[in-house]
Amino acid sequence: MPIVRVLAISGSLRAASLNSALLRAVVCLAPADIRVELYTGLNSLPLFNPDIEITDASPVADFHARLLEADGVIIASPEYAHGVTGVMKNALDWMVGSEAFVGKPVALLNASPRATIAQASLKETLTVMSAQVVEAASITLPIIGSHLDEHGIIADPSITTAIREALRAFRMEIVNCKA
Ligand SMILES: Cc1cc2nc3c(=O)[nH]c(=O)nc-3n(C[C@H](O)[C@H](O)[C@H](O)COP(=O)(O)O)c2cc1C
Repeated sequence: MPIVRVLAISGSLRAASLNSALLRAVVCLAPADIRVELYTGLNSLPLFNPDIEITDASPVADFHARLLEADGVIIASPEYAHGVTGVMKNALDWMVGSEAFVGKPVALLNASPRATIAQASLKETLTVMSAQVVEAASITLPIIGSHLDEHGIIADPSITTAIREALRAFRMEIVNCKA
């Protein structure tokens, strides 16, 4: 498998989101054999309603299709009041009844060492959805309080080393998963 396709999802809608900046840095730092696409449609997903089929809401159908096409998913999401952000959980709820995350390798990036409760909750939700959370690719980075945007992240040697190592581990797991 020469190139693996990865969908990156930020759980924050904030314009100055650290999690989104982290994922933009990941897009830039990804080696040639990993194509990382940033999903920017979280804001367009309607509130989850089990009465509505995935195919009946076009933003949801698009999200579903992108997930199916992806060999792996990277999620970076903040913690709000010790929980996963509403927009992130809403997106996952839409996919619960589908096969989108079944067996899908997922890397969880955490931009805040303080945000442990939401991270654990996100991992639990993905695990119950039968995703394969890849521990070696799930890292916590000290982005919060650092005042780094994506350019600062890319310029920080210790952070870029950690991201590159996580991406390498993630690719290896994806390739093993497909074999
Ligand atoms: C409504 C709200 C609730 C928050 N609750 C927590 C929390 O429980 N634990 C925590 O570590 N940080 C909490 N924070 C801080 C955010 O995690 C932090 O601002 C983070 O940078 C937000 O992610 P973003 O920069 O990607 O938008 C909260 C922020 C907001 C706006």
